[in-house]
Amino acid sequence: MIEQQIKTVIRDIPDFPKPGIVFKDITPILQSPGLCESIIDVFIARLQGLQIDGVAGVESRGFLFGLTLATKLGVPFIPVRKAGKLPHTVKQKIYELEYGSATIEIHTDAFKPGDHILIHDDLLATGGTVTAASQLIQEMGGIVSGFSFVVGLSFLNGREKISPISDNITVLANY
Ligand code: PRP
Ligand code: MG
Repeated sequence: MIEQQIKTVIRDIPDFPKPGIVFKDITPILQSPGLCESIIDVFIARLQGLQIDGVAGVESRGFLFGLTLATKLGVPFIPVRKAGKLPHTVKQKIYELEYGSATIEIHTDAFKPGDHILIHDDLLATGGTVTAASQLIQEMGGIVSGFSFVVGLSFLNGREKISPISDNITVLANY
């Protein structure tokens, strides 16, 4: 089962990036082409029936599976990047973090108004990042059709935060 396969390889890194945080390191997944292929296959199976005109992946770890997922679905990939990285005309969203704020950007021509967009990231923690991405996509006329994550940290209640945006939330490995 995919959840067990993912949990077997993910590493816990204590006190990274700050004391008191146990970081879920997904890089060992990337060493296994077979597991990467299974992850994409399971995403595709679980997303059956959902209207998806584009996959928005959140920099940087949302790029890892986001592009492959979009390519397998046969739809465009939409990079959601941190401020100042995208070269063409952008629309941006500033959002609050636990300490301070962050800015994400999308190219204004990355998708069309009315497109149904799946938002993909490696990990759902508080849900703050994908909520900001959702708001930006909605402000640009997109419809958020769902979310997909490799890992979810359920004790941080991200699912509760994002479910009013869309209830179609796929998480492969839950902690
Ligand atoms: C991590 C992770 C998600 C986000 C989840 O990214 O990859 O994008 O945090 O947290 P949230 O649900 O509380 O918003 P990070 O900002 O560490 O950057 P990276 O992907 O570039 O490593
Ligand atoms: Mg990230």
